[in-house]
Amino acid sequence: MSVLSTCPVVPVVVLDSADQAVPLGEALLAGGIEVVEVTLRTEAGLPGIAALAGLAGMTVGAGSVVLPEHVDAVVDAGARFVVSPGTAVPVLRRCAVRGVPALPGVATASEVMACVAEGLTEVKVFPAGLLGGPAHIAALSAPFPGLRFMPSGGVGPETMGDYLALPSVPAVSGSWMVGRDLLGAGRWDEVTARSADAVARATG
Ligand code: 3PG
Repeated sequence: MSVLSTCPVVPVVVLDSADQAVPLGEALLAGGIEVVEVTLRTEAGLPGIAALAGLAGMTVGAGSVVLPEHVDAVVDAGARFVVSPGTAVPVLRRCAVRGVPALPGVATASEVMACVAEGLTEVKVFPAGLLGGPAHIAALSAPFPGLRFMPSGGVGPETMGDYLALPSVPAVSGSWMVGRDLLGAGRWDEVTARSADAVARATG
């Protein structure tokens, strides 16, 4: 499975309640987004993953995965891919054992090399905005033809197009369409509107 071919926009979610998961997933689907990364930053993350795993048409992954034992927990809950802020070989190897794609964060060529050595073809760049934005990815990707990058951290509606213009960037990720304030207030129509806008920008 290629996570980056699933959808050009990958929302990064922090759930404050697992009850938010299904309405959130339905709002994303209504806006044309069929993939979601639910982070383990809150206790609602794991049950939220389990809830979204049961939503037809949605591919749910886990984010903020930093330890190998987290991989087992999220895969057992139904996660179909695993995103990390950085590169940890034990996490990558646990993902391989469990048969799920890993999307580790990279910031430097050395980290990319570690991922290539583990057989990965897709990585996340984090925090993309602070690292230098699209120019950083253009330079970082040059020695790694065929490798695909997903920028995350500081990406927004105004900048996503500049990243997606790079041949090595098939998808971007970010939280702007799924902010905790929107989820807490149940503003599902706004989630759908921002999702549709992001998809239109990505595909337009
Ligand atoms: C994160 O760390 O939450 C993701 O990279 C998304 O970052 P963002 O909130 O800047 O979009």
